[in-house]
Amino acid sequence: MYKPRVYVTRQIFPDALDLIENHAELELWPDEEPPSPEQLKAALAEVDGAIINVMDRIDHSVLDAAPNLKVISQVAVGLDNIDIQEATKRDILVGYTPGVLAKSTADLAFALLLAVARRVVESDKWVREGNWKISHHPMFWLGSEVNGSTLGILGLGGIGLETAKRGMGFDMKVIYHSRTRKPDMEKKHGFKYASLKRVLTESDFISIHVPLTSETHHFIGAKQLKMMKPSAILVNLARGAVVDTEALYEALLKGQIAGAGLDVFDPEPVPPEHPILGLDNVVVLPHIGSASNQSRREMHLLAARNLVAGLQGNRMEECANPTVYDSLGI
Ligand code: NAP
Ligand code: GLV
Repeated sequence: MYKPRVYVTRQIFPDALDLIENHAELELWPDEEPPSPEQLKAALAEVDGAIINVMDRIDHSVLDAAPNLKVISQVAVGLDNIDIQEATKRDILVGYTPGVLAKSTADLAFALLLAVARRVVESDKWVREGNWKISHHPMFWLGSEVNGSTLGILGLGGIGLETAKRGMGFDMKVIYHSRTRKPDMEKKHGFKYASLKRVLTESDFISIHVPLTSETHHFIGAKQLKMMKPSAILVNLARGAVVDTEALYEALLKGQIAGAGLDVFDPEPVPPEHPILGLDNVVVLPHIGSASNQSRREMHLLAARNLVAGLQGNRMEECANPTVYDSLGI
């Protein structure tokens, strides 16, 4: 019996690989570094399905190089690395992994928010460098109070909602701006809807959770940064290009805002010589929002189930382009 061929572009949890191997001939990219665009094209040239990662750009030319491809299964919720329109035109199903990573990513949003507000990374470095010579100076290491402050959420989806709930747990006033107002959430949790301008001008902390699309590219630029309080701290766990990095650097340098916590960067990886890494009021993490053992395993298993379902001509648990079901008659 014909077994479909599948390429997996990065190591994933063994039980997810087992699930795929029960249904397909599997090949696994062996390196920690992602495949280059040319290597990706060669890897996908003859396969029916692929498990991919946010660093794998699936554009027109990659799809041209993969004439047998029927299913792309992304191990992530963000889909900005995939030309979905082009995949849909070719009746290629695209799976993804929303939900299972929302809580862990919101936990990290709070880790970043607290780290910048209370200068955690900066003061840890100071201790390790042997500077703790004076005991408990009353005026050293003062940071921003988190409890009682205002948290502004941009994008009240899966992760935005979990971050907002954590804000309520810290006794913060939570306001949000999203494409769609969510009266049920407001009633259930006590958040308040606000215009983008109000979120920018009134928040002490702003946490970004919108997807990267043509509408949200540089959603936060020089103009928006100028509207924020000089004491504001910006946290970005969405995608680097949702923020204009150069404008952010200038705003931090000039003290237009007080600090930033960045789990994502434009470009990724951040070049080590980037001037933003020289600023003490910035914490930069290597895109690890969903990187808990539990979430990553759930993501890998969900991606594997999406892939197998698509290859078997069934509907996926999480499909980003369900209009393809109509063309495939499933
Ligand atoms: P989601 O559930 O789809 O939520 C996204 C929210 O943003 C939705 O509520 C959406 O609209 C809102 N939105 C979209 N466009 C908007 C716009 N132009 N203006 C205002 N609001 C807009 O997605 P999610 O699971 O929360 O994930 C959000 C993003 O986080 C992903 O796309 C990904 O890029 C990023 N992410 C990063 C990590 C990490 O490791 N750092 C991990 C997971 C995800 P509505 O208001 O209409 O609902
Ligand atoms: C990670 O960045 C994701 O989009 O899931």
